[in-house]
Amino acid sequence: MQAINHYSKAFKGLMRPLILSDLNELWQLDLRVFLDGEVYERETFRFLLTNPKVIARQIRSEYDEMAAFGIAQIEDTGQGHITAIGVAPEYRRRGLARLLLHEIERSLVARGISSIKLEVRANNDAAQQLYEQLGYITTQRMGKYYSNGDDGYSMVKLLETFD
Ligand SMILES: CC(C)(COP(=O)(O)OP(=O)(O)OC[C@H]1O[C@@H](n2cnc3c(N)ncnc32)[C@H](O)[C@@H]1OP(=O)(O)O)[C@@H](O)C(=O)NCCC(=O)NCCS
Repeated sequence: MQAINHYSKAFKGLMRPLILSDLNELWQLDLRVFLDGEVYERETFRFLLTNPKVIARQIRSEYDEMAAFGIAQIEDTGQGHITAIGVAPEYRRRGLARLLLHEIERSLVARGISSIKLEVRANNDAAQQLYEQLGYITTQRMGKYYSNGDDGYSMVKLLETFD
């Protein structure tokens, strides 16, 4: 468990793993985070939270509410894949997504993973700026990648491994 104390950004809380007993709270937060039809099914989260190839973290506020979550999978190719990052609207722009991504990347490196990929909607400027700031590079635009017809970008980052 990692304590978080961002005095400059008015956030106090902690980061800890997401586990199956968090499923209901995770799903409730997901419904508030993804408003444009890209919500994950509750059963998809159940699958993810019981899969040993998944790294799942949450940040809880000082009031013991789930403020943010991040989930990544290790694919059979050996590459990491960000499945979902979500921050409650009232806790945005406080560095929580950046913290989650750093922790996921650190956990992947600890498992010997050297690269990570993700997909992001072409119209999701906030997420694109977040990923670019953390060193992710756009490799491809994917026409009509999402079920509602939105285009997506594929992004990758090489992770620094321990020698
Ligand atoms: C995208 C999202 C995860 C960002 O979470 P966050 O905790 O607010 O992001 P952070 O505070 O860690 O921001 C880190 C950097 O990302 C960029 N960023 C984040 N939100 C931004 C926004 N709304 N506009 C522009 N840049 C933004 C900035 O560069 C920011 O650094 P700065 O605050 O020092 O300028 C959050 O807005 C969210 O949950 N959106 C809905 C779900 C989603 O789109 N998830 C990602 C796709 S799966």
